[in-house]
Amino acid sequence: MIITKKIEKALNEHLALEMNAQYNYLSVASWCELEGYEGTAKFFYKQSAEENTHFMKFFTYINEMGGHALVPSLKAPKYQFKSIQEAVEMGLAHEQKVTKAIYEIATLAKKDGDHATEVFLTFFIDEQKEEEVQFKRILDKIKLIGGGPQSLYYVDKEFEKLSAATTGGKKRKDKGEGE
Ligand code: FEO
Repeated sequence: MIITKKIEKALNEHLALEMNAQYNYLSVASWCELEGYEGTAKFFYKQSAEENTHFMKFFTYINEMGGHALVPSLKAPKYQFKSIQEAVEMGLAHEQKVTKAIYEIATLAKKDGDHATEVFLTFFIDEQKEEEVQFKRILDKIKLIGGGPQSLYYVDKEFEKLSAATTGGKKRKDKGEGE
């Protein structure tokens, strides 16, 4: 095996976090759609699809490196939210958890002298930074605009713009894989 058992285990454990993100965002998107927040739904559907590409990158890597990628079992995600703000706060908290987990695997890889895994993780370290910044910015904007019905219309429009803007950037970065 090219990766150690320890790294294989850590990467397999990480699969659950990426799949969880995918499911959480899909669930948020569905709730948004039913509440009439179409722009926000579009944004979260895209985020969910992107998390699926993350999941698959980890999954493929484990097998490529001589390990055995295992499909995680997950609890059903939350499907009712008090507000868009609550959903975004959940997203940010989850991204922070993912970042922490990736840093821990990177530290483990460094200790093991596993340069391949270290290099593999650099994409995700970059990606996590972008996602956390994006969620923090959205949250600031929601707080600024407020939660009234008219404000929510503008929040939804902001998400629509953001979903259109992120598509181009991610495409360039993922070389067309992500979208
Ligand atoms: Fe792929 Fe946003 O964790």
